[in-house]
Amino acid sequence: MKITAKELRKTWLEFYRSKGHTDIGAVSLIGDGTTGVLFNVAGMQSLMPYLLGMPHPAGKRLCNIQGCLRTVDIDSVGDASHFTFFEMMGNWSLGDYFKKEKTGWTVELLTKVLGLDREKLCATVFEGSGSVPRDEETANFLLAQGIRKEHIFFLPQKDNWWELEGTVGTPCGPDNEWFYPADEGKQDPVFPDDYVEIGNDVYMQYCKTRDGYEPLENKNVDTGFGFDRMLAFLNGTSDAYLTDLFSGALKLLEETSGKKYSDGGEPQRAMRIIADHTRTAVMLIGDEQGVIPSNTGAGYILRRILRRAIRYCRGLGIESGVMLPLAKIFIEEVYGEAYPLLREKEGFILEELEKEIGRFEATLVQGMKEFEKCVSGLERKNEFMKKNDPAYVPDRTIGGKAAFRLYDTYGFPPELTEELAAERGLSVDTAGFEAAFKEHREKSRVLEKGEAKGGLESHSGIAVKYHTATHLLNAALKRVLSPDCNQKGSNINDERMRFDFNFPRPMTAEEVKAVEDLVNEKIQEDIPVEFREMSLEEARKENFVGVFDAKYGQIVKTYSIGDFSKEMCGGPHVSHTGELGHFKIVKEQSSSAGIRRIKAILE
Ligand code: ALA
Repeated sequence: MKITAKELRKTWLEFYRSKGHTDIGAVSLIGDGTTGVLFNVAGMQSLMPYLLGMPHPAGKRLCNIQGCLRTVDIDSVGDASHFTFFEMMGNWSLGDYFKKEKTGWTVELLTKVLGLDREKLCATVFEGSGSVPRDEETANFLLAQGIRKEHIFFLPQKDNWWELEGTVGTPCGPDNEWFYPADEGKQDPVFPDDYVEIGNDVYMQYCKTRDGYEPLENKNVDTGFGFDRMLAFLNGTSDAYLTDLFSGALKLLEETSGKKYSDGGEPQRAMRIIADHTRTAVMLIGDEQGVIPSNTGAGYILRRILRRAIRYCRGLGIESGVMLPLAKIFIEEVYGEAYPLLREKEGFILEELEKEIGRFEATLVQGMKEFEKCVSGLERKNEFMKKNDPAYVPDRTIGGKAAFRLYDTYGFPPELTEELAAERGLSVDTAGFEAAFKEHREKSRVLEKGEAKGGLESHSGIAVKYHTATHLLNAALKRVLSPDCNQKGSNINDERMRFDFNFPRPMTAEEVKAVEDLVNEKIQEDIPVEFREMSLEEARKENFVGVFDAKYGQIVKTYSIGDFSKEMCGGPHVSHTGELGHFKIVKEQSSSAGIRRIKAILE
């Protein structure tokens, strides 16, 4: 190894510190919400106000190494150069030095410090468009730095302009990208095919408006060099996974699977995906904003990444539990020093990983069977149709409803189903999936608004309170009368609740009073009502009760009220028991053989 990750970190920061820059450290991976971009995709993202002119407390020359996450690259991960999480080495001039100094320092760092050959360096600059002139200025400074004329290329906006896509009011500008031959030994390398990009200096002197670009008062520099790729490149490989950032992870995956990374093919691809995704998950869960898997926002991306990795573990023939020791390697051996928070949060990270692995493993096998059923159903249909009509064009699309079922019941992110389908030469009806999703959401909304009939006649605020009261009553009956008492039905309206349960005889007055008192005690304790989703198996293990006939592997909704009540239930509920007021049983009677009925009110 010519240079380690630790050495490269130090080299970058020390070099820019020697040029008067302050190391401002990294910020959270999660975007701050100002641009609508979910994650930090570049080091400049948290510096936007300063690039637009606000004074930065650390001065006008800044540097750092910033973790970034680019979700657009998820599907490309598996090749030799893509990651979801990566780090960017950055430095900035906030209206201070500009093109002359920057070209000089980049060349100095690349050649004198990192040992690249000036003769071989290539650079691209902006050819100009609209009101933004051709960047002759930078080209001239490059020539003055000894970059060969035939190694400087003027390229259009699509190549040499940097901005945060999908945003307005953000700083942007032309850039100068740096390239080096992928194989130093190759005679007469041809640009760009034989070159790798190693980084870029953006001259941020414009602000992106709704209709174009306006000059900024500040002439800024925004530099970004990908840490991971650069590390590989400096070590003479174009495989970005062959660095000390991944050596421990790949070794463990090789040992566990009995396969060799260097043999290439699908096992190599799987190892890259598992290693990359585990690293990203560690960084997201261990972030200062502590993302956990969920169905929205950053939590959903985390879930998607983890579930994709879990599936690839199966593909590699290993248990997905391997992600726990892998995560440990990243935390303890690779990133703990640069990101001390990871070490502090190690327990939390491993716990969250384990939970998500458990949740998805519980449904993955069934879900895969379901997926195979969809595929064979499609094949059977195609065969049948073809027999009757030789001109029939085979249907190669998994239906939207089927994809939604895989999502809703088995926890398959739609992107995962698409990927599985693509491997079989099929596609997914994504519009149909969206429609099924929407329909499902509408139904839930209607339910929540109380327009549907059922155990809950209405979902007004008071009915929601009665609903929570049934959970308390259910738990109280089990404690006062017998653990064998189970709910057999309930009905709620705005005036009262009715609750049926099995019990062989009428309750005594004392028993009625004891149940009432226990429920009121729990109301007074003002216990939070906690909602969680989990697999049916997990819910059973945790002793949740329920009258629902969920299928094996299904994800169920659960509500717990402290340790007192644990039920599988679709909700809704109040957030704290204190909201219920006073509980009073007004009647205890027979409902049918062996079934008692309680009518109760909240006062
Ligand atoms: N903002 C520039 C990039 O992300 C430096 O490449």
